Amino acid sequence: MKGKKILITAGQAKEEIDGVRYFANDLRPQDHGHRAAAALAEKGAEVTLLTCSTPLNPPSGATVISQSGGRSIISAADLYEECEHLCKGEKFDLILHLASVPSLKSAGKSAHKIKAKTMVGNAIKMKVTANIDILSALKAPGRKIAGYDKAQRFRSNGLSSAWKKFFDSLVHEHRLVIGAAKQPSSSLAQDLSGVKIVVTSGPCVERLTEWGDVITNFSSGRQGHETACALADRGATVALVSGPVALPDPVHASVDTVHVRTAAEMLRTCLKEWPFDAYVGVAAVADFGAEKLLSKQVLIEDITLIQNPDILLSFGMHKTKRPKVVVGFAAETENLEGYAREKLKKKGADAIFANLVGQDAQGRSPDRNHVLKITEPEVRDCGEMDKYHVGVLIADFIAARLSRG
Ligand code: PMT
Repeated sequence: MKGKKILITAGQAKEEIDGVRYFANDLRPQDHGHRAAAALAEKGAEVTLLTCSTPLNPPSGATVISQSGGRSIISAADLYEECEHLCKGEKFDLILHLASVPSLKSAGKSAHKIKAKTMVGNAIKMKVTANIDILSALKAPGRKIAGYDKAQRFRSNGLSSAWKKFFDSLVHEHRLVIGAAKQPSSSLAQDLSGVKIVVTSGPCVERLTEWGDVITNFSSGRQGHETACALADRGATVALVSGPVALPDPVHASVDTVHVRTAAEMLRTCLKEWPFDAYVGVAAVADFGAEKLLSKQVLIEDITLIQNPDILLSFGMHKTKRPKVVVGFAAETENLEGYAREKLKKKGADAIFANLVGQDAQGRSPDRNHVLKITEPEVRDCGEMDKYHVGVLIADFIAARLSRG
């Protein structure tokens, strides 16, 4: 590969469904392309890495492109267009398609959050269409291309099978790590000492097809992880139940992190923690999961999804296992206060911290949040602050409720 010009597609394409969820593929890790870029650059290749927006550090020795026309590269279509654009200006000896791309996308993207209107266990239909197969679309006379097709099979026109082994060897289970781990702070009031709290964080990921397509939610896990730290800093013992995130587990003697993927696993894990004094639902729990895994690659027009259990509601309304304090979040793309008030009532929570997400929250730093605190008698706009301080507001609320008895 010495001196060869190689273009690599990388990262994870997201096909947005609405302001809160998207389709993706999670069969290979998001950093497959990044690892290949570093390895090939080390072998002397001239590597251009074209990546969907990602929290990964750029691999050393490669030229990284993650924007097109001033916009981040998000979807498979963005990735493909930029690929063709680069190929017009430059001749590559090899194009390696290692980005992870879902085989389906939403037939009609919604500007606002699609509401779960059925009952738990009921079926809903979601209209989807086949996504672009980048590997096929890139084929052109004289181009050497290799990589993974939309069923995640390795294809190549001109690379030996040894290369497949090489690329497969770059895939192994790992966790991306972004952000710094929190250190415990000892100077704060220990008004939650002796209190056990379960906090959920991050997204849930629900597998839809046997070749790795998933439906999942936009959530980095920052708000949940920071909340766990803020509660532990006040003396609480915290069980942090987290979906897949790129954050490190909090480094705190009083925070125990458990990793889950699906809504059902998250509920089961929370129930295992019983008894506890308070539940804080920060996770962007997947409202829908697959009825059954699709096993044949077909041009799908609609898929049947099943409404998942509602964890917050399960605890808020539980006849025998209701913690003394139940706190939820509401992520809305419109009518923030109205929908959050409905959730407070319907889910039996003592407080809902409501935040705008999607288009309306664009431009806000990922470390910060702007919440409305909604309780039965009042709504308070808490203003914008860092996510740890939203956690402090939750700690204040729980401490006050518990001291009331
Ligand atoms: O992780 P970050 O990038 O820091 O982003 C933080 C956040 C936006 C994810 C967080 O602040 C937030 O709003 N979390 C809740 C997201 C959400 O799923 O909201 P919702 O309006 O769909 O759900 C309302 C409440 O019900 C939440 O407490 C949720 O955890 C809970 N829920 C929802 C569905 C379900 N099946 N079970 C649940 O328990």
